[in-house]
Amino acid sequence: MLNFKEVIAEAIAKTIELDTKEIITYIEVPPSKEMGDYAFPCFKLAKILKKAPPAIANELKEKIKIDDVLIKEIRVEGGYLNFFVNNEILVKNVLEQINQKQENYGSSDIGNGKTVLVEYSSPNIAKEFHIGHLRTTIIGNALYHIYKFLGYNTIGINHLGDYGTQFGKLIEGYKRWGTEYDIEANPIEELTKIYIRINDLCKEDEEVLDICRDNFKKLEDGDNYCMELWNWFRDVSLKEFQKMYDLLDVKFDSLKGESFYADKMDKIEDILDKAKVTKESQGAKIVDLEDKGLGVCIIRKSDGSTIYALRDLAAIKYRAETYDFDKCLYVVAYEQALHFKQIFEVAKYLEIPEKCLNGLEHVQYGMTRLSTGRMSTRKGNVIRVRDLLEESISRIEKIIEEKNPEMKDKEENAKKIGIGAVIFNNLCNTIIKDQIFDWETVLSFNGETGPYIQYVYVRAKSVLDKLGYIPEFKDIDVSLLTDVSSMKVINTLYNFSNVLENVVEKNEPSLLARFLIELSQNYTDFYNENKVMVDDKKLRDTRAYLTLGVQTVIKTGAGLLGIKMPTEM
Ligand code: ARG
Repeated sequence: MLNFKEVIAEAIAKTIELDTKEIITYIEVPPSKEMGDYAFPCFKLAKILKKAPPAIANELKEKIKIDDVLIKEIRVEGGYLNFFVNNEILVKNVLEQINQKQENYGSSDIGNGKTVLVEYSSPNIAKEFHIGHLRTTIIGNALYHIYKFLGYNTIGINHLGDYGTQFGKLIEGYKRWGTEYDIEANPIEELTKIYIRINDLCKEDEEVLDICRDNFKKLEDGDNYCMELWNWFRDVSLKEFQKMYDLLDVKFDSLKGESFYADKMDKIEDILDKAKVTKESQGAKIVDLEDKGLGVCIIRKSDGSTIYALRDLAAIKYRAETYDFDKCLYVVAYEQALHFKQIFEVAKYLEIPEKCLNGLEHVQYGMTRLSTGRMSTRKGNVIRVRDLLEESISRIEKIIEEKNPEMKDKEENAKKIGIGAVIFNNLCNTIIKDQIFDWETVLSFNGETGPYIQYVYVRAKSVLDKLGYIPEFKDIDVSLLTDVSSMKVINTLYNFSNVLENVVEKNEPSLLARFLIELSQNYTDFYNENKVMVDDKKLRDTRAYLTLGVQTVIKTGAGLLGIKMPTEM
């Protein structure tokens, strides 16, 4: 794709002693098009050249030799050098690329040769899959698809919480009262009840606690009965989680949970011991990170059992050896920030490549708060994620029933809209921010929502349906799209791959969500100002072709976020 920034930077590089790459980082996009499409600020050069910025700008303007077919005009504005691109060339380039790449428009190979692990979802078996797990699932899934689209070798990992001393308790509880509970029917709820009951008993009775500890020990040693039960807890929990993954259409390449690292922890402890970074503290084994302001990282509890942090360390080592990754992203709530700082610090002693160490990153997201009162809950005030997803679908079904009772594929469309709405709501703001979940906002067909984007898509689709044929690139006249509202759409489309690159640079999928809003709004303005079904075939085909481009990019972009397009709305 034609890269105007590069063209400009290369021309500037020939006149001053800075390399193209650095110049590119200085080039800005002015706040309004009247000021130009790109601007090069000369302030940074003022110090080096010991001249005033406007003088530098004027000098550069004289010296610069640039392709005048691509760049129509250069203007000096204060300390800025402003560039005006040739709109017709821009339009042609964008639409030609869409024509060539179709649904792959925006993809690239910048990630070729690089491996990125994205760890997301990671719920705990025999426990509720809560609203925070929904967020990591949605954010991680979006990052996963975007990295892939940019050519990275991407591996999605579900680091299931399927290990720890609590399973010693759960086994004991089941052994005592298992028959009283219908686990197959309601696995998570029933297992939670058993857990609470046995945990209470443990608090009263030290002897029971010892038995539970012993159970976990047996589990670690591969005892048949304990293994069988644990496997069953894991299976029924996974089956339950799978229902949510199916609704969201989320998949993983690897389902290696914490238990996978059970036999790999001794080695890690050895390495840390040999590096002389461990010590005893109140019977536990720790790595003291006080001097780095990170407290202490507990490796092994006083009762000898392994814990979360050690399993994470084993996972880092395993992943570095297995994948030799360039990045390993942990999409986990910000509450665990200290934990990740600690394990990344301790990982420095694990004898893994520098590249992997530098690639460890905690992608933090904020909490979801529910604007309660309006959320119907089955029991008490704990909202089950599956109920939430299903409620979203059924609310959309009701809206469809009112707005468009004749709709075909009602069920399929309601699912796409209901699920898409929840996904979009999780991604439309900077992910570190806490998010407020409010049905009315989430499901609105107007505003910055998933349904709005789908609505614009469906509108573009109906324009093309009305046209009755698929417009072809060879039949269009790019000079007919240089008006303000068409150019806004073109400029947005042109930015698509840039936005995707920013997403992976910052691990911020909300940038893509914002992009989709902008594209939808700009297309809406275009649509309101330009009639597509005009008599003049050239004009009609040209506008229809832009519509086709928008439709394609919305579908691709939303698809990367995990949002599917309905056929009608
Ligand atoms: N299972 C944990 C939880 O639900 C999240 C795991 C995050 N990943 C990790 N590698 N520690 O809180």
